[in-house]
Amino acid sequence: MEIIDLGGHSGCKILLCETDDNKRFVRKISSSVSYNKRLETQARKQKEFKSEYIKTPSVLRTGFTEDNLFYFDMEFIQGVTLSKYIENVEITRIKELVIKIINYIKTEKSTDSKTNEAVFKNKIEKLREKLGKENSIINEALSMLEEHSWSNFEKSTCHGDLTLENIIIKNDQLYLIDFLDSFYDCWILDISTLLQDVELLWSYRNDEKVNINTILRLLIFKDILIDEIKSDDDFLYVEVYYALLLKIIRIFPYAKDEFTYRFLESKAKYVIDIINGEKKNENFNSALCRK
Ligand SMILES: Nc1ncnc2c1ncn2[C@@H]1O[C@H](COP(=O)(O)OP(=O)(O)OP(=O)(O)O)[C@@H](O)[C@H]1O
Ligand SMILES: [Mg+2]
Repeated sequence: MEIIDLGGHSGCKILLCETDDNKRFVRKISSSVSYNKRLETQARKQKEFKSEYIKTPSVLRTGFTEDNLFYFDMEFIQGVTLSKYIENVEITRIKELVIKIINYIKTEKSTDSKTNEAVFKNKIEKLREKLGKENSIINEALSMLEEHSWSNFEKSTCHGDLTLENIIIKNDQLYLIDFLDSFYDCWILDISTLLQDVELLWSYRNDEKVNINTILRLLIFKDILIDEIKSDDDFLYVEVYYALLLKIIRIFPYAKDEFTYRFLESKAKYVIDIINGEKKNENFNSALCRK
């Protein structure tokens, strides 16, 4: 029944399968018994997902293998991931892609509920314990995260890992896959994950050379995304960068090689500069208003 192993990075098995009557579907199997719960959450998020702008492959069934590994079967979307698609997409078409994603994120945002700042404080405290003695950039980032008020991070529905690799496009329709249970569910974190790809080029970090056409398209994607965020009063532009900084700092403990470590370091510095630049602008503007 299995025809192709679709791979993946998380250790889960992703198999393209075919039924006796030639119907294709994808089976995602947990990497270990201890990962079962997370994959069950993923299947549940995918099943409950609803949006008028974006789809997700329908979940067909769930179950356990003989080794007690949880799996779920879903519709096979014969398309390409957005990370691949963006490489050659016509430039004039990028805006509609961004708008679809932003519209979806706005629907996440509309599910806002109370903020739980303590979750952020605890997370940052743990990171301080782990990374406090590493280097000056990490220290500066940690201080900024510690001083920041996370009161704008109201809980909402959230994809949890909104990278370009986890969006499939087929006939102009976007599909989200690989939902994740993150430490905190909030739409701002989804935007920061997108920026991690389109602005920091995270998914492309191991490519020997990223094609200039790809970089150009990612830049345009990023500019449109930022414009959309800024044009909506409620969309909290600087908060997205605080979330991005937290995201980068959280990856440090997992950086296994020098290259990844240096990559993260330079991106942390880059994001710190954006936040500081924005703060300067704010101070300048409020000084102007007082005059
Ligand atoms: N329903 C589907 N239809 C078509 N292709 C799929 C489907 N589900 C997964 N894939 C393909 O398999 C790849 C890996 O899937 P997925 O992102 O779920 O795996 P993962 O191992 O959890 O990856 P990650 O490291 O991002 O968590 C996708 O990028 C996509 O190319
Ligand atoms: Mg994935």
